[in-house]
Amino acid sequence: MYQARIPTRVIAPLVTFDCHSDKYLYKRAQEVDWMTLIGTDRTFAIFASVSASNITHSKYAALKLKDAIVDMIRDQVGTRPDVDRREPDVSINLHIENNRATISLDAAGQSMHRRGYRLDAMEAPLQETVAASIIRMTEWKADRPLLDPMCGSGTILAEALMMATGTPSGYLHQSFGFEQFPDFDLWAWSARKKEIDDAIKPIEKGLISGSDIDSEAVRFARKNLSRLPHGDLVTLSRADYRDLDSFENGVLVTNPPYGVRLNGGMRIEDFYKNLGDFFKQKCAGTTAYVYVGKPELLKTVGLRTTWKKELVNGALDGRLARYDMYAGQREKDRLRREAQATATEPETTDTAEAPQGQEAQETADPK
Ligand SMILES: C[S@@+](CC[C@H](N)C(=O)[O-])C[C@H]1O[C@@H](n2cnc3c(N)ncnc32)[C@H](O)[C@@H]1O
Repeated sequence: MYQARIPTRVIAPLVTFDCHSDKYLYKRAQEVDWMTLIGTDRTFAIFASVSASNITHSKYAALKLKDAIVDMIRDQVGTRPDVDRREPDVSINLHIENNRATISLDAAGQSMHRRGYRLDAMEAPLQETVAASIIRMTEWKADRPLLDPMCGSGTILAEALMMATGTPSGYLHQSFGFEQFPDFDLWAWSARKKEIDDAIKPIEKGLISGSDIDSEAVRFARKNLSRLPHGDLVTLSRADYRDLDSFENGVLVTNPPYGVRLNGGMRIEDFYKNLGDFFKQKCAGTTAYVYVGKPELLKTVGLRTTWKKELVNGALDGRLARYDMYAGQREKDRLRREAQATATEPETTDTAEAPQGQEAQETADPK
């Protein structure tokens, strides 16, 4: 769980039961040994969600569960634990769906998308777990340069950095819900955490780079990245992506604006058309991934996608599109020479194959 990049919550279910009324919720919740799990000295909070349920309000469901817990402990020892919604020692998750309730302990103790590095953010930042999913879907293995030319507060760069350095997703978290579990073994956890943290390794400077037209965004990205191990090895600059040097044979991952407040009052369709032109003219041999909150915007890029995949970001119906750009002539010549050399070496013929990525580069083309 300390290393999991994609889930937003990790929960440990305690009890599941049919739940057609608040009275039943109150009664069945008291079958759990809350005195052992919370006691009187620790604070707790309940996070509830309901759908297709006779109990229609999540806050009411949470209140009923809170009453059950507090009444049970008070009956046993005469005093009760306090509720702390901001920083509870014990986080309890109540989920009711189709009149079936599950009460769980939250093993992380908080939503795991809050990594702790993004204290400074521009408007509309990507959720960290969505950025991590994007990096996972690119299948980038830290073997080619990665660029986000519209990096905003740097979420894509930060998740790529964490992946490349082996920094666990929970690295900046001070505490975890599971540390409050009755069977928590501090010695085993400390040893495992040290082993994982000791394996964090640096990257080559410039392997990951980002830029943004907005200097404040670049400042935020720099501050956010500096909170992570080896964040100083990510190259950042303020630039309009159209003015960047060519970016060939790399992986470009970006989340362009969706249409609000485009600089210079440019039409959003023209903005995406320009992005497609930039890929064609300056990104030979590069695989580009574009994440948008409005799928229809991809139509205006003017390039054929290799694939498009759904990926929701909060309420947004997001899409990640992949574009494989032609290798430049020089790169094509190099790949051809390499392929010829490999084919003429008899001892290597067993493993001889088309140079990596060549097929994709050759098949993708502008519309
Ligand atoms: C949707 S935001 C990116 C948010 C980012 N993924 C994050 O998590 O913070 C789009 C970004 O594109 C930048 N941008 C807009 N036009 C640009 C251009 N021509 N060149 C470079 N950046 C640009 C904006 O300043 C903004 O930061």
